[in-house]
Amino acid sequence: MTSRNASPRHFLDICAFDSDTLRHVLGRGADLRARRDDVRTARPFDGKTLALVFDKPSTRTRLSFDLAMRQLGGETIVMSGNEMQLGRGESIADTARVLSRFVDAIMIRMLDHDKVVELAENATIPVINGLTHRSHPCQIMADVMTFEDHKGPIAGRAVAWAGPYNNVLQSWIEAAARFDFDLRVAAPNTLSVPVEVRDWAADAGARLTVGDDPFAAVEGVDCVVTDCWISMGDDENDNRHNHLMPYQVNSTLMAAAPDAIFMHCLPAHRGEEVTDDVMDGPQSVVFDEAENRLHAQKGILHWCLGAALD
Ligand code: CP
Ligand code: NVA
Repeated sequence: MTSRNASPRHFLDICAFDSDTLRHVLGRGADLRARRDDVRTARPFDGKTLALVFDKPSTRTRLSFDLAMRQLGGETIVMSGNEMQLGRGESIADTARVLSRFVDAIMIRMLDHDKVVELAENATIPVINGLTHRSHPCQIMADVMTFEDHKGPIAGRAVAWAGPYNNVLQSWIEAAARFDFDLRVAAPNTLSVPVEVRDWAADAGARLTVGDDPFAAVEGVDCVVTDCWISMGDDENDNRHNHLMPYQVNSTLMAAAPDAIFMHCLPAHRGEEVTDDVMDGPQSVVFDEAENRLHAQKGILHWCLGAALD
């Protein structure tokens, strides 16, 4: 029977955790990466099942969670929201209660963040945020891992973001507070970091700088990051491209940050937020970053299911 718990270990947002816990999760992911072959034999998740619920498309999140679970000896069931009764009006709360009777954890991608929180509140098993319109915490765990693989400890270092405020940037801001690095955002004023998020960052002690000059933002940084200009759920007709072209990460911008790596959560829209020569150039670590989703996910799954395994 499934492991039900009055206080399941959800992974919904980076801001919900203290630095030590996040370090523990990342360390576990790195350890499972280093012991990849041994762990496959040990099968620590034998008998455990993860439900993967997708209300929106995914390549990396689906692959990495599915394979992470299987490589650790567990099983997965993949469902799309519109094939479930959820798509015909069954409530989130009842869906949570039913899934809690069948599987050991849920990973969900759904744009409405409040609904994911409601799912977690009504589940007796861990719920993992696989992207909402608010945040993408699993991505940024893999991004911190990738930064540290290439540049060493991220604490005290500097990361620049060029592009609009979105779910990925939200999780980067939370990570800046918890992992103690400088985050310099360059975005047009109309698409920049909301004031309440800046206030949160200030209260949390994050070293967040927000401006509208991408060249000022990238000067001297260790990493340049961007993401698509139109996220899932954004209005595609609001003429963002004209506002955002000055923030394109191209070889001229990367030349202003000669010691920086380049990261992008992918999928990239080549020719929009990033050019081919940067994606395929010597500073790019985007495919290491994609692979690290697998290893970071293992750390997250291990922490979420840990109470049942320890
Ligand atoms: N970066 C990321 O989450 O990719 P997918 O949308 O392919 O899952
Ligand atoms: N900001 C992007 C990330 C995709 C992985 C989106 O939400 O569409």
